[in-house]
Amino acid sequence: MHTLSIMLLILAVVLFSGCYASFPHRNLTWNDINFVHTTDTHGWYSGHINQPLYHANWGDFISFTTHLRRIAHSRNQDLLLIDSGDRHDGNGLSDITSPNGLKSTPIFIKQDYDLLTIGNHELYLWENSKQEYETVVNHFQDKYVCSNVDIRLDNGLFVPLGLKYKYFTTPIRGIRVLAFGFLFDFKRFNSGTRVTPMAETIHEPWFQEALKHEVDLIIIVGHTPISHNWGEFYQVHQYLRQFFPDTIIQYFGGHSHIRDFTVFDSLSTGLQSGRYCETVGWTSVNLDKADLNLPVRQRFSRSYIDFNTDSFKYHTNLDKEFDTAKGKLVSKLIRETRKELKLDTLIGYVKTNYYVDYVPIDHPKSIFNLLALKILKTLPKSKHEERITIINTGSIRYDLYKGPYTIDSKFIVSPFENIWVNITVPKSVATKVAAKLNDADYISASRLKPPHQYDLQVQDLSTSPHQAHFDMQEKLPKGYVTHDDFGADGDDTLHRAVVNFPVPNVIQSVEINDEVDSPVNLVFYSFITPNIIWALKELNFSTEQVPTPYSDIYLGTLLNEFVANNKI
Ligand SMILES: *[C@@H]1O[C@H](CO)[C@@H](O)[C@H](O)[C@H]1NC(C)=O
Ligand SMILES: *[C@@H]1O[C@H](CO)[C@@H](O)[C@H](O)[C@H]1NC(C)=O
Ligand SMILES: *[C@@H]1O[C@H](CO)[C@@H](O)[C@H](O)[C@H]1NC(C)=O
Ligand SMILES: [Zn+2]
Ligand SMILES: [Zn+2]
Repeated sequence: MHTLSIMLLILAVVLFSGCYASFPHRNLTWNDINFVHTTDTHGWYSGHINQPLYHANWGDFISFTTHLRRIAHSRNQDLLLIDSGDRHDGNGLSDITSPNGLKSTPIFIKQDYDLLTIGNHELYLWENSKQEYETVVNHFQDKYVCSNVDIRLDNGLFVPLGLKYKYFTTPIRGIRVLAFGFLFDFKRFNSGTRVTPMAETIHEPWFQEALKHEVDLIIIVGHTPISHNWGEFYQVHQYLRQFFPDTIIQYFGGHSHIRDFTVFDSLSTGLQSGRYCETVGWTSVNLDKADLNLPVRQRFSRSYIDFNTDSFKYHTNLDKEFDTAKGKLVSKLIRETRKELKLDTLIGYVKTNYYVDYVPIDHPKSIFNLLALKILKTLPKSKHEERITIINTGSIRYDLYKGPYTIDSKFIVSPFENIWVNITVPKSVATKVAAKLNDADYISASRLKPPHQYDLQVQDLSTSPHQAHFDMQEKLPKGYVTHDDFGADGDDTLHRAVVNFPVPNVIQSVEINDEVDSPVNLVFYSFITPNIIWALKELNFSTEQVPTPYSDIYLGTLLNEFVANNKI
């Protein structure tokens, strides 16, 4: 071994043998105005109990932002805290109650947001929309901005769900801000609510009126992907530029569950801050207009902060003094709520990690492999029944991590309460349905995969120049290496890159005998009936059959029982 290699190896050991906090971090860039952004939290306020990288809870996050705000003000800078919606569905804390969010929403609103808006998950069910209006909007009042969603009151009249826009001045610099809140063109809202596409909203009279304000900065808080291939924000942007050719416009996005940052033009960027309390997004803006030609990288910065207290302490330069009184209170509230909801009730123990897409689908550590080969086969069936069971990959929400498997885990991995239905078809047809649904040319409007799979970023597996040496990389925590319009240096913690392998629309579990073309049961969630019928048609199998109820044992229940009774 060369001396240099040995020295590097020693250096690596010294650097990484200490506690978790010794992982190398990149500093935040502070500027005239700084933004802290969350999106798609989906109820993860307890933190990721089996994942140290995202271990912080909502109380820790509150302590963190309290310090960040103090630091900003001590630097004579502003700091705004923003959330882009989707606060239910995905975690036991939010989903075990009826209606869901009953206990988690009061925890969410403890954070001191300056601006927030709605996500599509607040709009599927009336009870969630009502809760959003009565709890979140009522609490935040004029900080809740919602330009294109209305709610129907008891008297039958539709009113804006929050302020249509907000015009305000920041406390430190006196920056005049005009803010809008935009949900993407979502169609499946409940009948007590109404979403107007933002492309229409911008032509409404009130919007035109709002544009008459004198502004230094425009903020768009949206539950809408910021990526270049999602047109909606770019359409709004083109329109705004007609009125504000040289005003700085900052977008905040969500919905596709990824970390992302995009350049709209030299005076405008968009930030999207991941999902599930894995990421706190950061962006800062130099508001100096003396030089309009300032390169975009000098005007804007972005960071993706891992949701753990080591990162939080690093960026606030604190250790023992980190916890604030309010932060501690909220952590206590979370502990008590978990206890009350019995979320930590142990069901079993998982010995290794099973991933949604960090490994290929046929890998032993793929959760889909586990489902197809083992768990789906435990769905009760009669003795000689032959069947093929199909699930869409989006019916799994998250990885299954090594550690205690609790009531909470089921909600995290498979929260959906879909009933199974079946239809009897010839074996030769049944065996081709999954492949048909996975055909490359099958573009589904119903989005059968997990959300982030529709926005996979190009992954560069080679060593990035920011990561010192191979030996060191081996010791880095596995996590996101985000590729965005500014490059690959946005993650606050240096990570060994996880790779998102593409997953198919559906997977199947096959339980059939030999070659004879006898009828078999095709079993699937009632939810994907239209897709199955489509595939059967494509396969030239016409049937008058209506799928019949097959089982009401949810996938989550099968998972519980499997983990309780097996070593996995
Ligand atoms: C990051 O910030 C720390 C603490 O403020 C400072 O000591 C260090 O020099 C900074 N690192 C870089 C690369 O700027
Ligand atoms: C579903 O399976 C049951 C049991 O095998 C069968 O009796 C029933 O006909 C099937 N339903 C349809 C629509 O094929
Ligand atoms: C279905 O029928 C059409 C027209 O007869 C034929 O072109 C096609 O290949 C058939 N598809 C399959 C999967 O058999
Ligand atoms: Zn979401
Ligand atoms: Zn969403």
